[in-house]
Amino acid sequence: MLRSHTCGELRLTHLGEKVSLCGWVDRVRDHKGVMFVDLRDRWGRTQVVIGPESSAATLAAVRLVRPEWVLLVEGLVGARPDGTTNPKLLTGAIEVGCRELTVLNEAQTPAFQPSATDLPGEEVRLKHRWLDLRRPAMQENLLLRSRIVKIMRDHCDELGFIDVETPVLGRSTPEGARDYLVPSRLDHGAFFALPQSPQLYKQLLMMAGFDRYVQVARCFRDEDLRADRQPEFTQLDLEMSFVEAADVMAVIEGLVKRTAREILGVDVPMPLAKLSWDDCMERFGHDAPDLRYGLEISDLTAIATASDFRVFRAAVEAGGRVRGILVPQAAAKFSRKDLDALTALAVDAGAKGLVWLKMEPSGEWSGPVAKNLTGPVGENIRAKLAAAPGDLALIVADTFDISSKALHTLRKRLGSVLQLYDPNAMHFSWVVDFPMFAHNAESGGWAAMHHPFTAPRAADLALLDSDPAACRAQAYDLVINGSEAGGGTIRIHDGRTQEKVFQLLGISPETAREQFGFLLDALRSGAPPHGGIALGIDRWVMLFAKLDSIRDVIAFPKTQKASDMMTGAPSPVAPKQLLELGVRTIVPPQP
Ligand code: AMO
Ligand code: AMP
Repeated sequence: MLRSHTCGELRLTHLGEKVSLCGWVDRVRDHKGVMFVDLRDRWGRTQVVIGPESSAATLAAVRLVRPEWVLLVEGLVGARPDGTTNPKLLTGAIEVGCRELTVLNEAQTPAFQPSATDLPGEEVRLKHRWLDLRRPAMQENLLLRSRIVKIMRDHCDELGFIDVETPVLGRSTPEGARDYLVPSRLDHGAFFALPQSPQLYKQLLMMAGFDRYVQVARCFRDEDLRADRQPEFTQLDLEMSFVEAADVMAVIEGLVKRTAREILGVDVPMPLAKLSWDDCMERFGHDAPDLRYGLEISDLTAIATASDFRVFRAAVEAGGRVRGILVPQAAAKFSRKDLDALTALAVDAGAKGLVWLKMEPSGEWSGPVAKNLTGPVGENIRAKLAAAPGDLALIVADTFDISSKALHTLRKRLGSVLQLYDPNAMHFSWVVDFPMFAHNAESGGWAAMHHPFTAPRAADLALLDSDPAACRAQAYDLVINGSEAGGGTIRIHDGRTQEKVFQLLGISPETAREQFGFLLDALRSGAPPHGGIALGIDRWVMLFAKLDSIRDVIAFPKTQKASDMMTGAPSPVAPKQLLELGVRTIVPPQP
């Protein structure tokens, strides 16, 4: 070992010891001939003093030292003089009096100083990711990630789960996103798909008798990226045999409790609240609502039916809904300009506009359309929303889906601008009773709400034939602070139901046989009842770290454009490689 201690280790108990430390130069200061070097490593920072006791060679060497150089320092641990201790630093009571200094490596002037408080934009940080990852904040994020993954693995291990790796080169499974494809060199024109999740493999492992499977699995989805979505991300993927939904949920509740206790020192009461999907959509306009605050949606359709306000009538007559949110004591907080901005948000979400009403001290509504909502209509809106003077009401008249989307967007914005929640609080809940199917806008038929292998509720089995829209799934999503942090289902375990669901999804028996023949055969060769779930590990870590972007908890993330700023991936390849793969590109590779 080049060093005797790390840069975060030395305390007053080490006084007088001869030590050697290795690390990066965080800062160099010259105090009238006495030089101070802050040496940094993953563990912390230690102040090194190069003064009169140091050799002449050391004094000469330290004058050349620059930030981010890598040093080996040998010296004696001393107490910092009174008034110069730093209680914020773990090593703030001591310093190392340098006897020998060895430059292990020099560093060019870095693109930015990892120790700077004023950091460059994310692009620069992503391009020089190794520098960014030297920052203690980033190191803490990845250490937290490592701790959380260990808790997950330990939890599953203790419950008898077997860790099994599944292929990355596979066949596309219909998880709903676009596939990443890998051309086959030996079979020109054929492609592997990178897994969107190990869904079918884990089901096959149940059919193979493993009973409890777990994997920290990398998943690949070529979809539009957001702050909480990456093209490759990691799941804690698990599957269990001979279980019902409650059993899978109990495993995850145990994990939530354990993670919250070990990471945050917080006791999360169990069981977690369960909300039905219908309830979520009605009350919050979204299937992963942030329940740290209220601002629930009220339905005003019946009231609006009696109104002759054109906007409301048109929506009701078209079969839509009139729904609104009451924002208590917010009337004075929102100027005309702020309300225009909220209207623009609603319009971006698809709404035709936004009705805003402020309740005056007199109990009257004011606002651009208040004159249309006088008399019993205005009074009924007041009563339904339980509005009081000083309150603000926001109302959208549209289809259920659009009003949901618009009001969800407004709710989210209001929650954050009005700081309606403690940013350190974590709220865990389940959303259950999802519909089996959603309308597929493209085909006009049905699409799987979760995936095509999800079992309907036993009582709803007959609805597959009579009324698929009413059929509910044995599905459960874990929601943390308005983020979908996990999702799973009980699976179909008989071939006949699976074939029926494929058919409803517009997958012909021939296509089903061709794409999923192995699954259909396995389902007919003794498949146990089974179900599972996958947790988004990146999102878990982001949420436990109280961060807003999953890029901050991934060592080498992709940008919004799904590219890696550091390596330049994706990049053109040599024509020879394409030839071997039998692939011709339409757009010629950019030099
Ligand atoms: P699902 O598609 O719901 O289920 O994914 C499970 C969880 O993975 C996380 N997640 C993502 N995280 C980051 N970036 C992404 N692009 C991304 N997409 C999803 C979310 C989500 O809840 N095979 C099923 C699970 C099952 O049925 O057992 C599946 O993949 O936190
Ligand atoms: P208009 O006459 O279309 O300009 O609309 C009158 C007011 O109603 C404006 O303040 C619009 O923002 C609002 N508005 C229009 N359509 C809707 C709608 N579908 N839902 C809620 N408000 C709307």
